[in-house]
Amino acid sequence: MQIETLILGAGAAGMMCAAEAGPGTLVVDHARNPGEKIRISGGGRCNFTNLGVEPGCFLSENPHFCKSALARYTQWDFLDLIGRHGIAWHEKTLGQLFCDGKATQIIAMLLREMEAAGAELALSTELAELSHDGTRFVARLMREGTEQVVSARNLVLATGGKSIPKMGATGLAYDIATRFGLEIVAPRPGLVPFTFPDGRFSALSGLSLPVRAQTARGAFEEAMLFTHRGLSGPAILQISSYWREGEAITVDLLPGSDPAAALRAARGEAGRRALSTALGQLLPPKLVAYLGETLDLSGNLADLSDRRIAALAQALSGWELRPQGTEGWRTAEVTLGGIATNGLSSKTMEAKSVPGLYVIGEAVDVTGWLGGYNFQWAWSSGTACGRAI
Ligand code: FDA
Repeated sequence: MQIETLILGAGAAGMMCAAEAGPGTLVVDHARNPGEKIRISGGGRCNFTNLGVEPGCFLSENPHFCKSALARYTQWDFLDLIGRHGIAWHEKTLGQLFCDGKATQIIAMLLREMEAAGAELALSTELAELSHDGTRFVARLMREGTEQVVSARNLVLATGGKSIPKMGATGLAYDIATRFGLEIVAPRPGLVPFTFPDGRFSALSGLSLPVRAQTARGAFEEAMLFTHRGLSGPAILQISSYWREGEAITVDLLPGSDPAAALRAARGEAGRRALSTALGQLLPPKLVAYLGETLDLSGNLADLSDRRIAALAQALSGWELRPQGTEGWRTAEVTLGGIATNGLSSKTMEAKSVPGLYVIGEAVDVTGWLGGYNFQWAWSSGTACGRAI
């Protein structure tokens, strides 16, 4: 069968691209259903974009690469699209936009758009073999024991990253890109909880509080959650994308407040109050008890010298923690790294050295923050490619 465009991957980027690319497009996916990550995203309501999308919210070896696609298909364009499909939405927090109803509405919308554009979809289909004769890509596809050979002018790699293999994530895009001479920025799990040895925080498991988490390369003020195995919550997931193996993170347990001033004031007002009781008014008492295992929290407020207050305040606003590692691909929401942007056109997502080969979505070395940014990259890069082919 001769077609114009073969898209590998019926996820967010692949379907968006197909809806733009139009007739002569075949989207192939090995999963039984399209857009599985959309379906489970945002607790089933899909955090489909963010009001604050801007290039600075994306990580890449080349931070400029994402600019063109994001500028030419914005969060407002996507809102327009879902508006035309009558999908109701709301802002939850920090500009994060969610469906009022179910995430499956977004999948249904993309399928309708693909159908209207004349693109076709083949599910439960594996790529058994791929070759390139200099001008066309020839793919041998297998579906439930039946073989189909497709010859396409364009090949779009939209099979995503490596996160959550249980959901069908594979390294197919990287393998194909490597065969065609594109470079790969080593993929790493991103937006992922940290692990610590010896169940260090298990006594605090389930406790959540607002913090400012920081590494040398970034800082986020959001909630942090203690887990049996370590730390999670939005502040930690965000900072995990900036963290490197072996590094420490710094956690400010009282962001935006001045604990030294608060303790000095409390000392003036109620000197006979126990220090741990006074701290229990600033922080969850369970956490104060935990901190008391390593910090000296004995005595009354009146016993505290200014020097001790300063040292204590420093410990609370600069708690240094060295994660053992992360929960890895099993739970990572995204893949950092991927197909290097230096081999791709930022306007069309086409490989500079292989005309007709395109890479979009999470497979590219562009990774967004938590909060709808990764879907926006899928919509923007998918559209840039779909319009170009
Ligand atoms: P995506 O992974 O969506 O699609 C790739 C497709 O390729 C899949 O359908 C897969 O089956 C197929 N495929 C893979 N290997 C194949 C092979 N060898 N052969 C054939 N097909 C193959 N982002 C966000 O902005 N807001 C959110 O709320 C969330 N929430 C969220 C929750 C969870 C649990 C996860 C894991 C991730 C998120 N994300 C998110 C991230 C977001 O889901 C992700 O960035 C996009 O889905 C990426 O879109 P892609 O189309 O690039 O890949």
